[in-house]
Amino acid sequence: MKFLLIAVCLIKLSNSLEAHLGSCPTVRPMEQPLKNNLSGVWYDIMKYQSTFAKGKCLSFEVKEIVSSDVIISASEYDDRKLINYTRSGKVNYDGSLELDFTFLKFSAKFYILDTDYDNYLVGFGCKNIAYMMNLQMAFVWGREKELSAEYVAKVFDVLKNNKISTSDLEKSEQINCH
Ligand SMILES: *[C@@H]1O[C@H](CO)[C@@H](O)[C@H](O)[C@H]1NC(C)=O
Ligand SMILES: *[C@@H]1O[C@H](CO)[C@@H](O)[C@H](O)[C@H]1NC(C)=O
Repeated sequence: MKFLLIAVCLIKLSNSLEAHLGSCPTVRPMEQPLKNNLSGVWYDIMKYQSTFAKGKCLSFEVKEIVSSDVIISASEYDDRKLINYTRSGKVNYDGSLELDFTFLKFSAKFYILDTDYDNYLVGFGCKNIAYMMNLQMAFVWGREKELSAEYVAKVFDVLKNNKISTSDLEKSEQINCH
């Protein structure tokens, strides 16, 4: 046990990643998300900042959904430069997302936990990294650059119901992009 705690501390210090004891929590993803209703622009509102790269003003545009395949472009400011890149991925029937973006510090299985399509989307990813340890990533997207308190409360409820920490969520920068 002591060794594990030390290992967790070391990982926190060395990579600032959200390392947790135990294996990945079992979450309840949204079943059969209405893929076409996910299309359009989403802004990064809150996330476990340490599991993402340092860019600011991150946003996504979900386009071209053909069966489960999606094309998603992401744009962010990294070191004052606007970067925009496009990737293909999948939105599956079970609410899982398959995405591979360079701003993620690790790849994992992501799930859409909940969305109302018009205001908010809350997602979660986790990866078992070693015996009894896992890395977690939670994120909140909004249709606008600010998410109103009503939806923030809603998103927190969803995370709490899935036993996912909300205290590690930090607001993302959307105003001062440079
Ligand atoms: C999904 O999109 C369709 C077509 O735009 C719309 O009629 C429907 O109300 C949307 N459903 C939800 C839950 O947003
Ligand atoms: C990235 O650029 C493409 C092409 O100019 C544009 O259609 C898309 O909306 C941009 N993505 C974001 C997230 O701004």
